[in-house]
Amino acid sequence: MAEYKIEVTTGDKQYAGTWDHIYVTLFGANGQSERTELDNYGFDFSTGTIGIYTIKTSSSLGKLLLVKVEKDPLLFLSEDEWYFSKVVVTTPEGEAILFPCYRWISRGELVELRGGKAMKGFEEDHPLLIDHRKKELTHKKSLYQWKIMAEGLPHINHSDNASELPAEIRYSKSKSTEADNTKTIIGLELKLKGLVGSNEKWESIEDIKKIFWCKKTTMSEYVSEHWKEDNIYGFQFLNGVNPNVIKRCSELPPNFPVTEEMVKPFLAEGTSPQKEMEKGNIFLYDQKKMDGITPRTYNGEPLHVTAGLCLLYMNPENKLMPIAIQLHQQPSEQNPIFLPSDPETDWLLAKMFIKNADSMDHQAVQHLMNTHFLAEVYTVAALRNFSVIHPLYKLLIPHFRYTLYVNTAGRKTLFGPEGALSISSLGYDGLFELMRRALSETTYSSLCLPENITARGLESIPNFYYRDDGLKLWNIINSFVKAVVEYYYPSDSEVCKDTELQDWISEIFTHGFLGNKASGFPAEFHTVEEVIKFITMVIFTVTVQHAAVNNGQYDYYSWMPNVSLLLHKPPPTTKGQSSMRTILETLPDVGETVSFAALTWLLSDKYTDVVPLGSYPEERFDEPAPKQMIKEFQAELSFLSEAITLRNSQLEVPYTYLNPAEIENSITI
Ligand code: FE2
Repeated sequence: MAEYKIEVTTGDKQYAGTWDHIYVTLFGANGQSERTELDNYGFDFSTGTIGIYTIKTSSSLGKLLLVKVEKDPLLFLSEDEWYFSKVVVTTPEGEAILFPCYRWISRGELVELRGGKAMKGFEEDHPLLIDHRKKELTHKKSLYQWKIMAEGLPHINHSDNASELPAEIRYSKSKSTEADNTKTIIGLELKLKGLVGSNEKWESIEDIKKIFWCKKTTMSEYVSEHWKEDNIYGFQFLNGVNPNVIKRCSELPPNFPVTEEMVKPFLAEGTSPQKEMEKGNIFLYDQKKMDGITPRTYNGEPLHVTAGLCLLYMNPENKLMPIAIQLHQQPSEQNPIFLPSDPETDWLLAKMFIKNADSMDHQAVQHLMNTHFLAEVYTVAALRNFSVIHPLYKLLIPHFRYTLYVNTAGRKTLFGPEGALSISSLGYDGLFELMRRALSETTYSSLCLPENITARGLESIPNFYYRDDGLKLWNIINSFVKAVVEYYYPSDSEVCKDTELQDWISEIFTHGFLGNKASGFPAEFHTVEEVIKFITMVIFTVTVQHAAVNNGQYDYYSWMPNVSLLLHKPPPTTKGQSSMRTILETLPDVGETVSFAALTWLLSDKYTDVVPLGSYPEERFDEPAPKQMIKEFQAELSFLSEAITLRNSQLEVPYTYLNPAEIENSITI
């Protein structure tokens, strides 16, 4: 007789437990066990519990290969899903082997779990496992398929409804309930005030403050007090929600004829634009990507989106100040260069049009495409091509948690043709055209922060916390990834012969970057170093970069005059013709303002079901080495978190978005 100890962990998520019958069969190199029901006295499989059972066999099964788990219905009850975390099997020889599962299981479903140490495909030596792995990948490729969302954009997963996604990647029930609750609260609050759907124009800027009562952040308050100040305007291009757009300017573009006379009053005494450019204190935001995109129509008239140019100056007090704005690419008399010395509302309008175009670049390109949609490509390619026992699946999958769910659901509510973003000035079609243009120009190096910062000449600009925190995080993630990848790939040849890894990157190149060789993205991996860099970029994108462009949305967007996705009036063409009334007529009406504010609330809300960067509550690795690497990764992150908290305590406007404690381990919102 041989005895196997079976320790089954039921998740601690809400409703994780089940009343159904659970059966287990063990498969070993020397045979298999009976299909055995796991049944102890009392309730089995309650939420957050571990049940210990025994399976007896006539003799040892030899090397343990697979654990088959089946869930049969208890009669007369409705569906009772089970969140099955893991099972640890202790063999008669005394070896404890981890079989991770971490997924919902529906009635009648069976799962076959791989356990023990991570294995690459070519390392498999047992015919049963070779066959099992082959079937697993065929099944995964039918479960997760590619679909074209729109020509020229990254491909997406083929599910139209989030509720149809396979159980293993669905949202937990508690999370979807919370999101629904938030929506209900916001809706109720706005309805009570009679603001939803109102076409009224705001009568004064002060009236906009009446939108919400219960949601305020220190930063949203600060922005609503200081939004008109040039200093806060410039600051946002470094530490706001879109820190990836300005570049150091060493020579003015010929289509932006700013003269020394125009900007001299805003520079320090005794200097000139030329000297400041040489010193590296002049920066440019060129929005030429927006040029010629057709905006949406509103009441039969097209709205206006400008492709502006904004010149910024880092002054001796280390404040980044806008010093000249031209709202269209081609200079002309109807396209004057606006200056801080112009009448207040002219300058304010010029700044608002730049921020309007910037907000669409931020939402469509930097947020949706560069984080959400590319994350979806990395995820679908991983689900299709890696076996669950592959080391890189174990490394990556925690960073893809809920991403397909949030994107699939978001395509209906947020960025679909009827979604909230479609009421922006560019509208649905315009935003897609913008994304298409952006993807064709996206390079691999632009997604790798160290190269991105160097290419934009921002290595030494002061008070750039996104860069400071982001580069430290890049390095910490890189060290962790390097340790794990080098542990599993002792040489480049292991990389070359790993077909699952090669299939993963090849699908990413084809379905994400649409085979664009000029982008510099790899289509295959030849070295361990290439794999380390790519995986660093992937984890950085879905954690740090997403936090940078996502988490500050309420802070900066909720005060609509600071930045608006929609402007109604055409941009100014002459100076001295505007007033506060022009500003109020240009801004969204009452109903539009509350829709945007509600959206940003929802997008930057915190849920209880949050996994912070570097914490891996799901135990997937069975070997001590990667477990130790995770501990070191966590220690580094916690050390950085303390340093950032200390730094922030000394800042008037703290930069909190890249504090590791505030960054999620994956894109979930
Ligand atoms: Fe997001």
